[in-house]
Amino acid sequence: MSSQIDHLLNETRHFAPSREFVAQAVAGADLYDRAKVDREGFWAEQARELLHWHKPFTEVLDWSNPPFAQWFADGELNVSYNCLDRHVEAGNGDRVALLWEGEPGDDRRVTYAELTDEVKRLANVLEGLGIGHGDRVAIYMPMIPEAVAAMLAVARVGAIHSVVFGGFSADSLRARIDDAGARLVITADGGWRKGKVSPLKPAVDQALADRGSGPQESVEHVIVVKRGENEVAWVEGRDLWWHDVVPAASADHTAQPFPAENPLFILYTSGTTGKPKGILHTSGGYLTQATFTNRVVHDIHPETDVYWCTADIGWITGHSYVTYGPLANGATQVLYEGTPETPHPGRWWEVIEKYGVSVFYTAPTAIRSFMKLGRQIPQSFDLSSVRVLGSVGEPINPEAWVWYRDVIGEDRAPIVDTWWQTETGAIMISALPGVTVTKPGAAQVAVPGISVDVVDEAGEHVGTGNGGLLVITEPWPSMLRGIWGDPERFVETYWEKFADKGFYFAGDGARLDEDGDVWLMGRVDDVMNVSGHRLSTAEIESSLVAHEATAEAAVVGASDETTGQAVVAFVILKESFLKAHTPDGLAAQLRSWVGEQIGPIARPRDIYIVSELPKTRSGKIMRRLLRDVAEGREVGDTTTLADTAVMSVISAQVK
Ligand code: WTA
Repeated sequence: MSSQIDHLLNETRHFAPSREFVAQAVAGADLYDRAKVDREGFWAEQARELLHWHKPFTEVLDWSNPPFAQWFADGELNVSYNCLDRHVEAGNGDRVALLWEGEPGDDRRVTYAELTDEVKRLANVLEGLGIGHGDRVAIYMPMIPEAVAAMLAVARVGAIHSVVFGGFSADSLRARIDDAGARLVITADGGWRKGKVSPLKPAVDQALADRGSGPQESVEHVIVVKRGENEVAWVEGRDLWWHDVVPAASADHTAQPFPAENPLFILYTSGTTGKPKGILHTSGGYLTQATFTNRVVHDIHPETDVYWCTADIGWITGHSYVTYGPLANGATQVLYEGTPETPHPGRWWEVIEKYGVSVFYTAPTAIRSFMKLGRQIPQSFDLSSVRVLGSVGEPINPEAWVWYRDVIGEDRAPIVDTWWQTETGAIMISALPGVTVTKPGAAQVAVPGISVDVVDEAGEHVGTGNGGLLVITEPWPSMLRGIWGDPERFVETYWEKFADKGFYFAGDGARLDEDGDVWLMGRVDDVMNVSGHRLSTAEIESSLVAHEATAEAAVVGASDETTGQAVVAFVILKESFLKAHTPDGLAAQLRSWVGEQIGPIARPRDIYIVSELPKTRSGKIMRRLLRDVAEGREVGDTTTLADTAVMSVISAQVK
């Protein structure tokens, strides 16, 4: 990380928007002025202009019981109606909603009218199964149109979805199903990933397997889309094929209005403890900010743009910038099932050429891996349609930023580096294309209507030229409304640190440059960011110690050229295990163990077997020192260690 930070500090290049871009841009500088004069009025205006309200709201923000906010509380809307029916009613039913590309090269175009029809049928199926207001539905699917339809159908009937990334293991799925008490799971037999079918239904079966009396018994039905054509087991009475039940259902379904604060979804994300947190989002405020930011940050012109966000729907980016934002805006978007390098390393650029993608939104880790392969690959495709580029998920180093602009944007398309979190629900800090003079590596400015600051430990503004902690100083429409089932953890995690100021603590370090622009510096807590995916050190540590061989484990995020950070684990083996086994091959075994327990993304890059871990006198592991070892640096200050000799022992064992 430190060499990356040096680069950030020395970066001085600027890119002003072109006159042609400014002339057609959705956003103008006036947005900032309007929001400054009346922040709440500004959001009310966005909510009214961008969404259809079955019952208009009269209240904007209720902050009488912080940190529990309510936005537009007396208004009523239907999220699915806003993403579908109203576009059809406005005469845009023939507009393509999804340009779907399967990994093996099969494709489908789904218009707004067709997607609406499918969602109405599925909504009828859900209601027929007794799923309605407030029920939880787990979605564990590949990137296929049915995944988007499933989210919208759940929202349509006022139920709550919990999308679980298809790369997560059966164990992770089970934990999420249990925590939310899901009554229904929507899945597929399998989906295409890396040139082969990756099974999903078998993981659902495993997650639901009878283990006695777990709360997973809450699941009554499983709806299965046929996609992978892999063989699947079947539980009669519980399992239903999508192709049997959905086409047979009626395509008449009237969307009922629900209160603005009706829960829309739970999305689990890693925190600083072993147990993932179920981040809860509600309807009206969330949809307002997702729609607004998609429009102004990505400069969406729904009639002409072809938009593509490469995120999986299993992450927040896929919720806000695949399903909700773009569909509420009536945009046409590409949905791609597979991985970027399958069947060849130019696959993404081929998709851009094939569909004429004009707005492209991806993660720095992908850009860095393409950079490594060389510019010849993208340059052998026609990328002239690209006019806006977005980045999300982790800090983007200036070299990758400039490469992205030069090679993918052909030195013409502006880049927006967007900072936000699962918890914030939508983009919070970003340049506006056509307004902001961009700086490689900086997310720069809060979007209109959002207030952020960089403060010291006492919550005082650090001033330009200084670093500190990123906070959000005012409530925002798409803010999380809580952690599912754990209001105390919500208050403690995000609001306690700066309780006297009422600031939301994001967990990120940041710096203000001379112009007051924000540069993100990475997490300041025990959350790692690997390829733009959030992982918790504690969660991987508990997985490692659950293995019979492990006595103790410490995990750190070490800087990695491609993935941003990589998981590095230090493991102490049990004496009893060593008496009966040799440690040969154990590191590899532990790697795959973590992969099975949590999912392949959590697999440590390196596992070092050591005899001790660096601890303070109070027994806290000093991860900072282990990070020094993992990154091959001289080990820093060890004076607070209980045993100062321990680091030389560890360093020797790692070599
Ligand atoms: C990091 C993803 C720097 C940050 C939308 C945050 C970023 C965490 C950026 C949230 C960015 C996201 N620049 N860092 N543009 N975007 N992050 O919940 O550390 O998966 O706290 O949401 O990713 O990750 P999450």
